Amino acid sequence: MVTRINPSILAADFANLERDLGRIRTADLVHVDIMDNHFVPNLTFGPPVVDRLAQVSPLPFDLHLMIENPERWAPGYAEAGAYSVTFHAEATTNPVGLARKLRSIGARAGIALKPGTAIEPYLELLPEFDQVLVMTVEPGFGGQSFMPSTMRKLRTLSAAVKKSGLDVWLQVDGGITEDTIVIAAEAGANTFVAGSSVFNAADPAKQIALLRAAATE
Ligand code: DX5
Ligand code: ZN
Repeated sequence: MVTRINPSILAADFANLERDLGRIRTADLVHVDIMDNHFVPNLTFGPPVVDRLAQVSPLPFDLHLMIENPERWAPGYAEAGAYSVTFHAEATTNPVGLARKLRSIGARAGIALKPGTAIEPYLELLPEFDQVLVMTVEPGFGGQSFMPSTMRKLRTLSAAVKKSGLDVWLQVDGGITEDTIVIAAEAGANTFVAGSSVFNAADPAKQIALLRAAATE
């Protein structure tokens, strides 16, 4: 099984982002949390900052848009070269239209679900997406505890993806540590976002290796 570790720079040192991007070069993608203070009660990066960071990052970007009206912003991020752009199911009435737009620009299209959002209505849309993000905390802040209650949804999703034969990546985000990554991997995740566990570690590269090993054990 291919395992991807995507550190979230929400937990990096914002005064030293270029340095911190260099510390996670053994990861797979850089997870960038875009928040608008409307969809979630927090505010982070916008297009000019993401553009500039992408120029100095050794790894491509996996953008997680926690914003209202993703139709307004998501295509621009794709045009700027984001590897993947994930928007929230709760923030749009036309997820398929937006996913098609992102794919037409050349980005991988992702859809994210908050802990309380059911997966069932989206299962028939799986061919439209390259990844599904099952939030394992309420979106908005790093450093929260993993919610095991979200694993049922992940299992349902994982079974549907297997049955479909599609190569849809299953991502989890929130409270991922050496312990919780084992639970999420067992439930079918293959792409793991980790913020505080990577950047609070004395050696982020070593922590990435530990997470990778724990997910594949
Ligand atoms: C939360 C963000 C996460 C966050 C994860 O809304 O989507 O990506 O950075 O941080 P940790 O790993 O600290 O829970
Ligand atoms: Zn995220």
